[in-house]
Amino acid sequence: MPRDSAVVQHSATLALDERVRARRAAGEDVVHLGFGEAGLPVLAQVTEVLAGAAGRNEYGAVAGSPQARHAAAGYLTRRGLPTEPADVVLAPGSKALLYALLAVLPGDLVLPRPSWVSYAAQAALTGKRVLGVPIPQQAGGVPDPALLDDALTRARRDGAEPGVLILTLPDNPTGTLADADLVAQVCAVADAHRLTVVSDEIYRDLVHSASGPRPATVHSPAHHLPERTIVTAGLSKSMALGGYRIGFARIPRPDIRAAVIGVASEVWSSLPAPMQEVAAYVLDEPPEVRDHIAASRRLHGAVACAMHETFTAAGAHCRPPRAGFYLYPDLEPLRAHGFATGAELAGHLLDRHGIGVLAGAAFGDDPSALRFRVATSLLYGEDTEQRSCALTSADPVALPWIRASLARVRDALTAVFQGE
Ligand SMILES: Cc1ncc(COP(=O)(O)O)c(C=O)c1O
Repeated sequence: MPRDSAVVQHSATLALDERVRARRAAGEDVVHLGFGEAGLPVLAQVTEVLAGAAGRNEYGAVAGSPQARHAAAGYLTRRGLPTEPADVVLAPGSKALLYALLAVLPGDLVLPRPSWVSYAAQAALTGKRVLGVPIPQQAGGVPDPALLDDALTRARRDGAEPGVLILTLPDNPTGTLADADLVAQVCAVADAHRLTVVSDEIYRDLVHSASGPRPATVHSPAHHLPERTIVTAGLSKSMALGGYRIGFARIPRPDIRAAVIGVASEVWSSLPAPMQEVAAYVLDEPPEVRDHIAASRRLHGAVACAMHETFTAAGAHCRPPRAGFYLYPDLEPLRAHGFATGAELAGHLLDRHGIGVLAGAAFGDDPSALRFRVATSLLYGEDTEQRSCALTSADPVALPWIRASLARVRDALTAVFQGE
């Protein structure tokens, strides 16, 4: 139990998902833009691997099976991060690994503001203070390097002990990707302040602004601070396997790795053996896995860009989406219509227009900002047939169910901008 049981509440994103699902079950027609689930079917070959591994009921090694660790090391090495199998720890979700890292790494947590909902909540659970630093104009997932140095110096003066910096490359909630230059600048400041960097790269294969079968390059902080960067990733987003709970981390420093394995051994023991087989299969990246991820990337890009157009045409400011399935629009012009907080605006969109979005405050943003996250991945369909169709469609935005949702959002925004 946390020392103060009110310190962590039900995750805002999971809570909104449950609220929207309850409204739908009661017959309401809600466009669900509030949950970061990849919304795509499981690749057929993955279900075969899983079925074949159903008899694997042993606990297995805490850090992962040799095959899964080897496959993860190959996956990372092919992405320009030379990795030995011994550097890899697998776990039931990268969320568990992030928690273990925060539990073992010393010092307070520095976060880009806004950033993914669970980082700050996990910091609270592990007794860390959070220092939020606004993101720059170009992209989210990193703190503005021009503000970071000053914020760290001031925090130290005020008695905090900044020790860990989490970066999200590419980013949730903004759907953007910090470029190499920005990452280099942030790493220079992190180095000067001796911070350990945790680079959450769970969306790294979903950079959709690149065309072709290969994902665009994500510039990892591990290139700048090789000893002091820990990379986390997983299969929840690229392979839409959130419910399989497959995450992994690249932890080059043996002492940190041993400490994380220690937490793992006392909390979850190991990633379930059948999931280790799935991880080994997927991370070896056979052609059908690459094709599946390339198709997902195209779909995420097409729908996120169409939604971006819908928001900007209505009068919102919004960074163009580059990766994953998110947008983070700013509807400041609506303050003139009496909206004082992002939560008020999100509540109005849900109650009056049946549009579910998650207000920026859930991501640590200024509650008075009229910003919210829009997740587009639940628009792909209501069932496996529709989602498969979206995945293989040359023009997914023209599919009737996706077009209808985009039109609902457009009409709702038009109405809100007209004061309704
Ligand atoms: C930025 C980010 N990191 C980590 C996670 C957690 O992923 P996992 O399913 O591997 O626990 C998510 C899921 O929403 C995420 O958006």
